Amino acid sequence: MARAASLFSLSLLLCLMPLVAGYSISTLLETTVPLAGDGHSNGGASNGRELYYFSLKHRDAPNSPFLQRYSSRHELLQTVLQRDEERAKSFLEHIVQRRARQATGMVTEKGFVAMDSGSPPDPRSQQTGDAGVLLPPAGAGEYYTELYVGTPRQLQVAMVDLGSDVVWLGEAPSRLQKRRIDGDAVNSHFYPSSSSSFTPIPARSEPCLTVDGIHVCGNAKSCRVLVGTEDHYTGALEFAYEDIRLNRTHHHKGSVMANIMITISKTPIPTGGVLGLGLGKTSFATQMGSNHIANKFAYCLSDTDEPSGSSLVFNAGEDDPHLEFTPLVTHPHITTFHFVNLIAITVNNIKLPIPSKVLQLHNQGEGGTIIDMSTRFSRFPKSAFDHIMKAFKSHIDLPTILVPGFHLCYSMANSDILRVPSLTLVFQNNARMRLPMENLFVSASEQGDVMCLAMVPTSPGTPTVIGSTQQQNFLMVVDRGRSRVGFAPRQCASLPNL
Ligand SMILES: *[C@@H]1O[C@H](CO)[C@@H](O)[C@H](O)[C@H]1NC(C)=O
Repeated sequence: MARAASLFSLSLLLCLMPLVAGYSISTLLETTVPLAGDGHSNGGASNGRELYYFSLKHRDAPNSPFLQRYSSRHELLQTVLQRDEERAKSFLEHIVQRRARQATGMVTEKGFVAMDSGSPPDPRSQQTGDAGVLLPPAGAGEYYTELYVGTPRQLQVAMVDLGSDVVWLGEAPSRLQKRRIDGDAVNSHFYPSSSSSFTPIPARSEPCLTVDGIHVCGNAKSCRVLVGTEDHYTGALEFAYEDIRLNRTHHHKGSVMANIMITISKTPIPTGGVLGLGLGKTSFATQMGSNHIANKFAYCLSDTDEPSGSSLVFNAGEDDPHLEFTPLVTHPHITTFHFVNLIAITVNNIKLPIPSKVLQLHNQGEGGTIIDMSTRFSRFPKSAFDHIMKAFKSHIDLPTILVPGFHLCYSMANSDILRVPSLTLVFQNNARMRLPMENLFVSASEQGDVMCLAMVPTSPGTPTVIGSTQQQNFLMVVDRGRSRVGFAPRQCASLPNL
């Protein structure tokens, strides 16, 4: 078996996991640490709860550690389109893999794949897995945050990702371990041996068993889980508890330490770290919820050209009177992603003739609509996209121009203003997201004389994705406690205090 061979080449021994009773990850809010000079700390409570504020920065913002040099805006956009495409494929791969594992009974009640080189899976374990996404989907990260992790603190960059279920830090190569740690130098590597609060989780311990995936046993003392696909495992993640500092408000009126299950990996990932906000058991958002710190969060993304002003706030948002809510939809195979039910699209208040099955989530787990922060441009099934394009074309009287990767672009050479019809995404419960011009078209040239529709068609089977351009200047609320997502128009940059 190819699978067995690849496992043996890693010299790992896998163990059969017993079914264990459910319990929550034992994360605690430990100490309250007022920052120097702060007398009091009640900087912005919402419903009697503290707000925890994360400042988000865009990967293409000045000073971003991810900033790349592009010869032109055109080249930058090509890279973005490519990244979005890979991410969409990666969503589908995660779903298809999970479906295949469930069909073969390889996933147990707790989501473990029970394997011991060749013996058939235990029939008792043929249950639906509740498996999380440990390997962040490709392209994870349009927005990042800077976190203080460990004792003494180490400043880490982490991509904020609605589609991942881990707090992932890249472990520094061991030969660098002795280097002096400067707590305020941004580092994409974490040095666990330099942190006194780093607490490995023992293999087979209860917290370890909450982690979905194939556990490495053998003589491993710490909790380790394989990542990669069943044909090709690319490495192992090690799970531990570590302290992460949470800022109380954007004014930094004090902060608290939260003891969070994190994972470190010697396999570098291009994003540095990942702060996963997925719906799976080991994501940062789930841990915040299961420890009664916050079971909801809000985010607000300002324009990508805006260096600051985007934010992620736990325990915030629900008091905006303009919020419209739509339920989160349970996917038959995967828990991680934020699926919602997009039921219609209107252009200038006229409903496009898209058959409802085109936008639906299918029984086999294909289709459906994901709210994502790490995809730049929304993606729609081809037939829905064609209707959108047709409607726009009939309303816009400007010369079109071809730009690779995009499907509808206008030359603005002889006009200063682009007048576009309004487009509204209508979600279940009649929650309407009316997109203004800036969320619909993107400038595709340095001079700003080419404007392209900031949406693309998807390949068959891949989910519809609502991307970050479409969510800009909306307050987005993920209310996990009530299993719903809300949104309301909001100028994110001028209103950092959610
Ligand atoms: C918390 O506040 C500090 C100090 O201003 C800042 O450097 C850090 O990035 C903030 N953390 C987050 C997650 O926004």
